[in-house]
Amino acid sequence: MKVSKAEIVISAVSEKQYPSDRRPEIALAGRSNVGKSSFINKLINRKNLARTSSKPGKTQTLNFYNINDILYFVDVPGYGYAKVSKKEREKWGRMMEEYFSLRDTLKLTVLIVDIRHKPTEDDRMMYDFLKHYEIPVLVIATKLDKIPKNKKSAHLKQVIDTLDLDQEDTVIPFSAETSEGKEDAWSYLSKYI
Ligand code: GTP
Ligand code: MG
Repeated sequence: MKVSKAEIVISAVSEKQYPSDRRPEIALAGRSNVGKSSFINKLINRKNLARTSSKPGKTQTLNFYNINDILYFVDVPGYGYAKVSKKEREKWGRMMEEYFSLRDTLKLTVLIVDIRHKPTEDDRMMYDFLKHYEIPVLVIATKLDKIPKNKKSAHLKQVIDTLDLDQEDTVIPFSAETSEGKEDAWSYLSKYI
């Protein structure tokens, strides 16, 4: 898809603030600092529209990005960052539950994992949570540029096995550095728009 318009519409903390025009939404999910915001930026060819950081915990709200007036990307705060208080973690849980369990314009969630590492218990919980709510999932195994080419299939297998991925689900290797996987990701996303 050629992106001619991409803009932030709202940083929401509760349902009242979500956009009400009923356009399809594609949400991101994944560990803190895994590369969710970078994935959005790469897909829409913007350097830093979705704010990124080398420090975990950059994205704190549900950020709705209007893309070409036809869909929203929803950037979501990450999970699994150790230095988060119990109170903040509970706030995150409520915000996520409210969004993922109620939002009927949510068409697909892109679950981002780091291709270098075995998915964590939190990643598994997120995947199972999405399955529980019957939300279609695309798994993106990012930071592909950080592993040698001949290790790619072994790392992908580790992702598939650890998440216990359903037959119907797809994992796409990706790099926000090299743009690998970008076209595959867009063609998958297009089916849900
Ligand atoms: P939170 O908002 O804190 O949950 O993080 P996030 O998941 O949005 O991660 P973000 O996109 O901010 O990226 C975190 C760090 O990883 C940044 O330093 C990025 O430059 C880096 N990064 C993201 N994707 C890639 C990638 O494909 N390859 C490499 N080498 N670095 C990446
Ligand atoms: Mg982010």
